[in-house]
Amino acid sequence: MNQPQTNPHLTLLTERVSHASLDLPGPSPDAIANMVRAGMRAPDHAMLRPWQFVVVEGDRRQDLGHVLQASLRLRGVTDETQLERSLNIPMRAPVIIAVLLRYKEHPKVERTEQVGSAAAAAYAVSLAAEAQGFGSIWRTGSYATDPHVVSALGGGPQDEVIGFLYVGTKKGPSKTLPKLDLEDFLTHF
Ligand SMILES: Cc1cc2nc3c(=O)[nH]c(=O)nc-3n(C[C@H](O)[C@H](O)[C@H](O)COP(=O)(O)O)c2cc1C
Repeated sequence: MNQPQTNPHLTLLTERVSHASLDLPGPSPDAIANMVRAGMRAPDHAMLRPWQFVVVEGDRRQDLGHVLQASLRLRGVTDETQLERSLNIPMRAPVIIAVLLRYKEHPKVERTEQVGSAAAAAYAVSLAAEAQGFGSIWRTGSYATDPHVVSALGGGPQDEVIGFLYVGTKKGPSKTLPKLDLEDFLTHF
């Protein structure tokens, strides 16, 4: 950070980092609702609302693990270590919010725009988690576009998971911000 921030909103935006180590307690239903409300305010061309926020918590995380494992089997994976590991993937945080792209055919709004909107929604969810004191990390991987996984989460053939947002209480200190120079990314036309 080159400039100290005194505006808490700007601090949230300019100093956010992901947290991979996440513990109990997870966000309450009210806190989750606030995150989803933030997601629903993402920019959205033609008001298509091309998203769904699917909350996975408690024992349902184990059920999601079985869905992930089944998706590997359907893709022909037989490696027992990989299959075993898939069961534990959703246990890495108390709450997962899967942000699904619910693609809608539209003459002016192409899929890339809808992906952008759903990605903005996912980021808003993560910022609202941070604003309420929780840590989060956005993950995808091959499961995100796997039809078995997408269908289990309520999506259709044209949908995909834009992000699995793992959310919980931050365990350990936040990582140090990477040093980036504004000049490397800011230009004027
Ligand atoms: C679309 C997308 C997919 C991602 N998928 C993964 C993932 O599957 N696994 C992972 O460890 N990080 C993934 N990340 C990166 C992390 O969310 C995070 O941004 C990265 O670790 C850098 O940390 P930072 O957000 O604190 O800069 C993904 C990020 C985006 C935007």
